[in-house]
Amino acid sequence: MELSGKTAVITGGASGIGLATARQFAHSGLNLVLGDIEEGPLHEAVESLAAEGAHVIGVACDVSKEEDVTRLRDRALGEFGSAHIVFNNAGVVGGPAIGTPKKVWDWVMGVNVDGVINGVNAFAPLFLEQNEGHIVNTASLAGLGGVPGTGAYSASKFAVVGISESLFQELALSGKNVGVSVLCPGFVLTRIHESERNMPHELVSFNEDPMMQMMRQLSESAVKAGIDPADVAKAVEHAIRANQFWILPHERVALRMTQLRLEWMQGGPPLPINPAAATKP
Ligand SMILES: NC(=O)c1ccc[n+]([C@@H]2O[C@H](COP(=O)([O-])OP(=O)(O)OC[C@H]3O[C@@H](n4cnc5c(N)ncnc54)[C@H](O)[C@@H]3O)[C@@H](O)[C@H]2O)c1
Repeated sequence: MELSGKTAVITGGASGIGLATARQFAHSGLNLVLGDIEEGPLHEAVESLAAEGAHVIGVACDVSKEEDVTRLRDRALGEFGSAHIVFNNAGVVGGPAIGTPKKVWDWVMGVNVDGVINGVNAFAPLFLEQNEGHIVNTASLAGLGGVPGTGAYSASKFAVVGISESLFQELALSGKNVGVSVLCPGFVLTRIHESERNMPHELVSFNEDPMMQMMRQLSESAVKAGIDPADVAKAVEHAIRANQFWILPHERVALRMTQLRLEWMQGGPPLPINPAAATKP
């Protein structure tokens, strides 16, 4: 797809991978619509991108709410007349498979899975009708293999991979000029380990759980050793231009994990867990 002059909608656009991708897209001449639940950082992101010459608006939204994502699409159409790329990227980390209250599971699944479903429902019909568009969904290496301490997160990211693979097959059958990619990074230097900043107020006390404290420390040190989000942004743009499904910024680890998982299914040892390996490409 030729990108200059087109319009991209990015959820979770106020921070980390979403913001870096917004900057990358702005350099390539795309109009930008950033959606995020954090209004202060969203405002700052829009100001700084606009100061660099980007055509950009920000829309406060909670991706877990269908009406918010519909409004995000309508604002894009109202401002720029059309939309061509949706990056369903907003995400949060929750608790382990054992002992996480159902309401915390619901929050993680609401943002990470319903957010993607709402983005696909809002944009796929538009892209099919105009016979042009690309959907990028953010999963994770945790969507290619279960990771201890992150049951809710892994479940949500497996779901994102599943939705994206089904979407790929359906789009291929449609014969239309609409693509889909799934982004599965290892650790990236962002604020993901501070996800609790967006947790519904009544759930925040769950973070005092000793297991959560330990997981937060582990994930903080891995995230801080992670790759630059600008490198992930370049990979996202390349995948859209090349119409490539898998986006694997930590390709070596992703392929190794998948191979070991297959060997596990065939009776080999369980998948070994080595967070440090997932910090390097
Ligand atoms: N950083 C990593 O190591 C890593 C690795 C694999 C996958 N990911 C995924 O990358 C995506 C982006 O995360 P990041 O690493 O840039 O973290 P980040 O915390 O820096 O950015 C996430 C953004 O999503 C926003 N957000 C949270 N809940 C929202 C909601 N309900 N509605 C709208 N926006 C919401 C946050 O305000 C924030 O701006 C996530 O889906 C995450 O799971 C991150």
